[in-house]
Amino acid sequence: MSDFRPPTDALYIETKELTKSFTVKGERLEVLKGISLSVSKGDIFGIIGLSGAGKSTFARCINRLEKPDAGQVIIDGVDVTALSERQLRLHRQRIGMIFQTFNLFDAKTVYDNIAYPLVIRGVKKAERDKRVREIAEFVGLQDKLNAYPGGLSGGQKQRVGIARALANKPDILLSDEATSALDPQTTFSILELLRDINKTLGLTILLITHELDVIKYATNNMAVLEDGVISEKGRTRDIFANPNSATGKIFLKVYSELQDGYLEGGTGI
Ligand SMILES: Nc1ncnc2c1ncn2[C@@H]1O[C@H](COP(=O)(O)OP(=O)(O)O)[C@@H](O)[C@H]1O
Ligand SMILES: [Mg+2]
Repeated sequence: MSDFRPPTDALYIETKELTKSFTVKGERLEVLKGISLSVSKGDIFGIIGLSGAGKSTFARCINRLEKPDAGQVIIDGVDVTALSERQLRLHRQRIGMIFQTFNLFDAKTVYDNIAYPLVIRGVKKAERDKRVREIAEFVGLQDKLNAYPGGLSGGQKQRVGIARALANKPDILLSDEATSALDPQTTFSILELLRDINKTLGLTILLITHELDVIKYATNNMAVLEDGVISEKGRTRDIFANPNSATGKIFLKVYSELQDGYLEGGTGI
């Protein structure tokens, strides 16, 4: 892990006692029950949790696609829970987001998918063109600009998603299960790309996943989200060495059993 960009001491993303609930058919569902987390600038910070733990809701509170019920989200010293709609639009430009399902426009070319956030922001054509080509090259898609998403592999689709997320030069990249639909080899290449983005572009990355390998390979620090609360947080290598929370233990147990299966020539998965 020696080539990781070292996180700085500056706090970059901070949440304080964040709560969020939904009302479904008259019943109140408490999804986030007081999340307090600190992520340093330049870090790759992992959030792991079982399905339904509240990971995506947390991500959506960070970029304020959801409004938290209470608590604070402080990004680079600014409380984004208190922003006006106009300020929020600017805030969201500082945060790129990538998803498990890629969320691409199937009827648009790779070029137009990547250009989309620049069009929305009103960037002039020449500047837009320069940026699309530069970012496409960075993610290795310079030969695919005229292709449509339907003709791309999963890994290439996610590269388009990443390029689009980076188009507006954000400071933060939120990755919500971005590798969960990919095979292990492709997952690895996408994680390499995320590490490269962290290292060369200096983005702070919040990597949300239910996959232990992803956390282990790509993050410096992590938190375990368990039923709407953070059950443990700290350095990734410390938590892997000695998980204390129920989720941490379950993940690690399953993980080591799978590894044993492979080593003994067992059935694997
Ligand atoms: N917009 C919504 N309306 C109602 N319930 C929601 C909404 N978004 C998420 N939930 C519920 O919140 C819980 C956590 O969901 P989510 O944040 O997507 O978890 P995760 O990403 O960890 O799988 C789930 O029970 C889900 O059904
Ligand atoms: Mg989710």
